[in-house]
Amino acid sequence: MYKLIIKGGKTLNGTVNIAGSKNAALPILFASILADEPIKLSNTPHLSDISTTLRLLMDMGGEFILESDGSLSVDSSKLTKLTAEYDLVKTMRASILSLGPILAKYGEAKISLPGGCSIGTRPVNLHLKALKDLGAKIEVKNGYIYATAKKLIGNDIHFEQVTVTATENILMAATLAQGTTTIHNAAQEPEIIDLANCLIKMGAKISGAGTSVITIKGVSNLSGASHTVCPDRIEAGTYLIAAAITGGKVILKNAQHRSMRAIISKLTEAGAEIEFDKTSITLDMKGKRPKAVNIKTSTYPNFPTDMQAQFCALNSIADGQATVTESIFENRFMHIPELTRMGAQFSLEGNTAISKGVKLLTGANLMATDLRASASLVLAGLAAQGTTTIERVYHLDRGYETIEEKLKLLGADIQRIQD
Ligand code: EPZ
Repeated sequence: MYKLIIKGGKTLNGTVNIAGSKNAALPILFASILADEPIKLSNTPHLSDISTTLRLLMDMGGEFILESDGSLSVDSSKLTKLTAEYDLVKTMRASILSLGPILAKYGEAKISLPGGCSIGTRPVNLHLKALKDLGAKIEVKNGYIYATAKKLIGNDIHFEQVTVTATENILMAATLAQGTTTIHNAAQEPEIIDLANCLIKMGAKISGAGTSVITIKGVSNLSGASHTVCPDRIEAGTYLIAAAITGGKVILKNAQHRSMRAIISKLTEAGAEIEFDKTSITLDMKGKRPKAVNIKTSTYPNFPTDMQAQFCALNSIADGQATVTESIFENRFMHIPELTRMGAQFSLEGNTAISKGVKLLTGANLMATDLRASASLVLAGLAAQGTTTIERVYHLDRGYETIEEKLKLLGADIQRIQD
């Protein structure tokens, strides 16, 4: 196991390259199951969740090649096994995204139930109900989902709650269904647009991705394609806060401001000066202390839950009081007790965290609990006086490419050491 040692108090300045989006690359990798030929992906991030997905695809008979130009060729066109085993699924819940593609292509699938995680129970009932609406027979027993469908039949799907991966599962499954599927109350995240764009390159007939109504006309088969994964807006937002929390200036390369409007608006409200062009974003805090900002997470295009923990870190040293309300997940404040150990002042009332900014946090030994909570602790450590140690860094590696290397480039004093 590894831990991070951060000597805080440095003002971060510099340029950082934003990687491809984890939450776009994951569904796109599973979409390779639908194709009759390999797909070639550029800008795939180097993350443990990506490695886990490739391991899962290989376990089912898929193959991949890391090309010399850095692109990833994935051939999942001839699976020899239609089961996603518990041992792999338990390490990455997004493996549920194999269900729709395998069922649509092969007519049967056995997928381990993903189980919950520290931020919530993470049920998959909406995935299963929607697949049944497409004509699938679904049985859940011994911790596995058994799904069969001679041929999925297009239908009107109504999600009672907006759900990102369930929208993605149905979007993928419907590409090979007989007839037309319309998804109502669909998630509108940019990662869904990226998945749809890749599927369309593979021959899928999709319209409306990025809106709440997506229409898919089933086709008989999908071909290979080349696709460049969109930038990771959550990684980008995290590095903007790294500059904001230390009073510094950061230039993000390969970042798309269009998918970050809610994040940028809140950072501007906190007093940051932000400029952007088509592919880069610059945040300059000019040495100022941020102002505390109220946050309420919601579905896209509103404020993303995946940036909530990072803003709690910013609010902890900001000027003033603020409230952060988490409306998506039932247990996504695991970072609060750890921030409090650094001297942050928070009180929790149901799904709302109330902060009273302090001038200075002090370094402490901390424990990471989940991906974005870990990022929040790193950000607090960068601003804190003294040394902060963060254990269980494997949480971070799921969603941040070489985070300590990128932060070092910005002037942080941060080391990764073996436990
Ligand atoms: C995706 O998770 C992301 N993961 C999450 O990012 C992100 O936080 C989340 O969407 C919300 O934006 C990936 O894309 C791989 P949901 P997902 O289905 O799809 C409930 C990160 O840090 N729900 O949109 O699992 C659910 O409990 C991760 O990168 C059901 O009740 O989230 C939650 O309350 C964390 N039944 C709400 O819907 C279902 O069948 C939204 O969840 C499905 C979801």
